[in-house]
Amino acid sequence: MDIARVARSKAEAKASYDKMARYYNYFGGQFERRFRQAGLKLLDPRPGEDVLEVGYGTGEALAEIASAASPGHVCGIDISDGMREEAEKCLEAKGVTRAVSLATGDAASLPYRADSFDAIFMSFTLELFDTPEIPQVLAECARVLKPSGRIVVVAMALPDHPKTMSRLYVWSHKHFPNYVDCRPIPAAEMIAEAGFNLEGEERLSMWGLPVDVVLAKRT
Ligand SMILES: C[S@@+](CC[C@H](N)C(=O)[O-])C[C@H]1O[C@@H](n2cnc3c(N)ncnc32)[C@H](O)[C@@H]1O
Repeated sequence: MDIARVARSKAEAKASYDKMARYYNYFGGQFERRFRQAGLKLLDPRPGEDVLEVGYGTGEALAEIASAASPGHVCGIDISDGMREEAEKCLEAKGVTRAVSLATGDAASLPYRADSFDAIFMSFTLELFDTPEIPQVLAECARVLKPSGRIVVVAMALPDHPKTMSRLYVWSHKHFPNYVDCRPIPAAEMIAEAGFNLEGEERLSMWGLPVDVVLAKRT
């Protein structure tokens, strides 16, 4: 099955996440939690590490990363101002605000210097980018990672032989892109093509939809 394209503009994506930010944890966010946790376990942030989260959403993972990586510095970038407000509340509630720097912007062009981070975390975000842009996002991740730095990506998976649920999901994405904004991607393959060394991969399932958790290292 080919990778479905993304028709929605960045402005439309931003507007949509701004609108749903306050309610996100009650809907998509809570179903994604289990998969995010599997990703964080694989990322295993250690004290003193500098870590970036791309597409931090309501900030739940960011707060956990900040606690684990203290006294290292944690950065997060997300396109949505609404999500930033929610993440700020979450970081404050967890008492980790000072350890985290938030940026609002497009992950296709990261506002960080080369070789800045020990680790990058990205959950349910890479599959929102249009197909030609995914290598660009991964190249940006490689640029800002330190040599041998690691990345963990949690993403809806595109198996070699997609079953009914995966086909239905792609159909919904094509016909209702405002409601089903992501679509499955072969994350591990794309990460390897971007020049990373694959170090670990776990396939999980969300209502019959495969989800991949991929750990890779910058060469
Ligand atoms: C499906 S949510 C996932 C949020 C969080 N990572 C989680 O697992 O709950 C995708 C997030 O990516 C952000 N996002 C979408 N397009 C983006 C882009 N071009 N650059 C940075 N963030 C983006 C959205 O605002 C949203 O917070």
